[in-house]
Amino acid sequence: MKFFIDTANLKEIQEAQDLGVLDGVTTNPSLMAKEGISGKHNVMAHYARICDIVDGDVSAEVIATDYEGMVAEGEELAAIHPRIVVKIPMIKDGVRALKYFSKQGIKTNCTLVFSSGQALLAAKAGATYVSPFIGRLDDVSTDGLQLIDQIVHIYNTYEFNTQVLAASVRHTMHLIKCAELGADVATCPSNVILGLLKHPLTDIGLSKFLSDHKKAESTAQNA
Ligand code: E4P
Repeated sequence: MKFFIDTANLKEIQEAQDLGVLDGVTTNPSLMAKEGISGKHNVMAHYARICDIVDGDVSAEVIATDYEGMVAEGEELAAIHPRIVVKIPMIKDGVRALKYFSKQGIKTNCTLVFSSGQALLAAKAGATYVSPFIGRLDDVSTDGLQLIDQIVHIYNTYEFNTQVLAASVRHTMHLIKCAELGADVATCPSNVILGLLKHPLTDIGLSKFLSDHKKAESTAQNA
């Protein structure tokens, strides 16, 4: 399973990269706005900086919502770096744009996916990744993880190459369940990735090992 970090914050991306478990980055217009990145030149430069930090795929989302606009914007984004993945919303013109980029050999991430029908369309259009938003489904009392299960089942049945990229991952149990269900990728905030580290028995065990070692050292010195 691949781990992507869901942020446009360069410090967080660098920290996750330094941990050695990062496979890519996803951004969206809200995450870019959170970092105060605006204006075409700054946006492009920011994506280039992210690509310089990570070894894996970097999703950059189009703002246009019409086919011609998405194609033009996506081509500009893809030209920034070979690891850029053009992120396209699951709308009618978006499906056409996914097909266009697929034919061009440009990677895509179909975003804002909330149903298995939408995921089926994205795969048919040749999307590289499909992003079901599990946390946002949970927010409206719908089981987001069940959607991951359904999409993995459909894609396996028909041997689609589209990778299931679980998005809107809010906590460690989301991430672990996505792994159990066979999602190819999960994109999460850094606290969710780092949350996997935590177990009280690890902390208690380490503390005991170190205190036992210290006692043995002082016994040896006093002997
Ligand atoms: C990633 O591609 C999505 O944009 C992101 O995971 C959405 O997460 P949120 O629902 O926590 O905003």
